[in-house]
Amino acid sequence: MDRPILMRRVWWAGELALLAGSLFLATSLSSAAEWQPILLVALLAAIYFGGDRLNSIVGDGILTPAHSAMVLMMCLLGPAPAVLFGAVAATTKSALRRLPASQWLANLASLTAYALAGSMLSRVFVGNIHAGLAHGDVEYAVFGIGVFVVSFVTISLNFLIVAVDVYIEEERPVGRQFRESFLPLIPGHLTSGVLAALLAVAYTALGLLVLSCGVLVLAIFHYLTGALLRSEDRAEKLEARTIHLANMQVGVLSMLMDALALRDPETSRHATAVARYAKTMALALDCPEEEQEVIHTAALLHDIGKFTWPDRILGAGELTDADWSTVRRHPQDGAALVGKLDGYGPVADAILYHHERVDGGGYPAGLIAGEIPLASRIIAICSTYDTMVARDTHGPRMTPKDAIEELRRLASGQLDGELVETFIALIEREGPELIGEASDGYESELAFASRVRRMASPSA
Ligand SMILES: [Fe+2]
Repeated sequence: MDRPILMRRVWWAGELALLAGSLFLATSLSSAAEWQPILLVALLAAIYFGGDRLNSIVGDGILTPAHSAMVLMMCLLGPAPAVLFGAVAATTKSALRRLPASQWLANLASLTAYALAGSMLSRVFVGNIHAGLAHGDVEYAVFGIGVFVVSFVTISLNFLIVAVDVYIEEERPVGRQFRESFLPLIPGHLTSGVLAALLAVAYTALGLLVLSCGVLVLAIFHYLTGALLRSEDRAEKLEARTIHLANMQVGVLSMLMDALALRDPETSRHATAVARYAKTMALALDCPEEEQEVIHTAALLHDIGKFTWPDRILGAGELTDADWSTVRRHPQDGAALVGKLDGYGPVADAILYHHERVDGGGYPAGLIAGEIPLASRIIAICSTYDTMVARDTHGPRMTPKDAIEELRRLASGQLDGELVETFIALIEREGPELIGEASDGYESELAFASRVRRMASPSA
């Protein structure tokens, strides 16, 4: 016989045997006393069948007042009512959801087995309540602990039975189901066990009326827990959506930079080189990690506003006055583009002011010295140096020694003098290894995934 067919038959036989065994044992152990007092039976049946509105669902796991009602049936009534109500609930729910026969049988078998096992367990830990309980503080405490143990062991057993079924049906590992569906609900299951224990003790010590009032507490607990779990779930979904959105936004930026690199390969190499110089500067200046990230990202994207330039300007031919006004607009265009990304405000500011001069003669705002953001002052130095020494630069190429002299000449007029000295110290110490081969590092420099997670925040 085909192996899957054989497995299927074994599964059906097993489920049928489990159901038949549970029904047989419950009937054999049944006594008329288990159905008394009838008001208690009615109250527990009402909670068991009517508590679905207060269910809290996490993954495939569920925290439900029906379990507390079932535990009370197991401990205060006995196996027959617990198994019968379990069977009725499984049948009704399977019929309402129009489940296939196999799932119908699985539900029936698991619910009746769980009800019987819990009732038997309660006889071990709690004793037979119909045989009479001794009244005393110690006895009540032992009784309460017994009910709590029954509650937690049965909910764990119920999870295990369902998880094995899911494993057979969907091959989802039991360990993963435990982490996703059971573990997050453990505090809820423990609290619900404590409440069931308190209700059981209240009933045995003070009677049905007090138990009826206690049911209200149970309902409020489940209502509040449900609200809490729903809000946590919403927060998780919101965060996932925000990360997804930020990914898309940065993805669009990446496409723009790629398109710009196709039109002007120098831009991509220059961006990578400036980013590496700026990152090293930020480290040398001992900037906080978050600021280092801003400086690095802004350096990488500082000329993204060139995207708006026509090819004629990108080619660096003769520029008309109108062309120069386009060229001078690239910090604003770049900042406007990057500023649209959630959490990228400081990066946009750094881009906006990267052509300012410390003497106030720069653009677009004519800021002076310390008014210019640190990131912009760093980018200005790194960009000027790279433009002077790069192999593919348009003007005459300078040696690092000449470029350093030129930087010193520009210090305190165009560039920040103190930062220029820091930069020169780095260049003299590290040499060309400071940036390595910048021509092939743009993508890795961007490192999108980690960048998005660090900079995008749900509240931004
Ligand atoms: Fe620029």
